[in-house]
Amino acid sequence: MSRILVVHYSRSGHTARLAKALAEELNRRGHEVVAEAIRAEREWSKWLLPLPLLPLLPVLPLYLASGRFRRFWHRHYFQPRQAIRPLAIPDVSGFDLVLLGTPKWLYLSWPVARWLDTVSGLQGRRVAGFATFCGPPLEIFEIEMLFEPLEARLRSLGAIPAARLAISSDHHEYFFFNEMRGLFRWLSRKAFARPLSDFTLDGVVGQSEVRRFCDEAAGEQNIPYGPNQPAFRQSDS
Ligand SMILES: Cc1cc2nc3c(=O)[nH]c(=O)nc-3n(C[C@H](O)[C@H](O)[C@H](O)COP(=O)(O)O)c2cc1C
Repeated sequence: MSRILVVHYSRSGHTARLAKALAEELNRRGHEVVAEAIRAEREWSKWLLPLPLLPLLPVLPLYLASGRFRRFWHRHYFQPRQAIRPLAIPDVSGFDLVLLGTPKWLYLSWPVARWLDTVSGLQGRRVAGFATFCGPPLEIFEIEMLFEPLEARLRSLGAIPAARLAISSDHHEYFFFNEMRGLFRWLSRKAFARPLSDFTLDGVVGQSEVRRFCDEAAGEQNIPYGPNQPAFRQSDS
């Protein structure tokens, strides 16, 4: 039995719901689970949030096409931060495992980036990242763009990246008529030949991914990450 911290930030509730499902699953397996919700001191307007993301747009085709450029970008891109309220658990050294959850805001959400600056005790700690985002689990645009910089940051803090979980929320705040969600629903059909709903927490792939993540993160089994499974095969076109 392990002592596990499930910590997350959520702006519109989807990552919070995933965090709750993970905590319940790990509890059911007999682990001791403690939860913490990261709270922003002040939530930003949805129209201000994307401004720091704009520099990627002109180079997005290059980012998608070139692994070398992606490695360069992940080393140098600007990761915004947002002030957070005082933490109930500012030191995580008492846990065997930390599950860290974030919505994808192209990269890490700003409050989670701040949590990584703030928290102590990560040295030698296993940390497994989980995320919600609108789209299906596109290997480059969604998974790599979020988890590569996150895991590099974890390593720089002495933590050991343990597992990844990516769940679609089928929710996007932009723009006026849910255009982004429409685009991701279309991409899901095109890249995976599956409806986007399959990749949500209630969907068939989402459900099996939650179980795989818990197996892997809690060290119960060593299972390859989801995109290697046949259900995930896709191209990032
Ligand atoms: C600034 C911003 C950037 C986002 N970028 C992405 C993205 O790159 N890919 C994606 O699929 N969804 C993106 N989304 C949608 C969120 O990741 C998605 O709605 C998420 O599930 C929200 O989680 P929450 O309800 O826990 O806040 C973005 C949302 C915001 C506000």
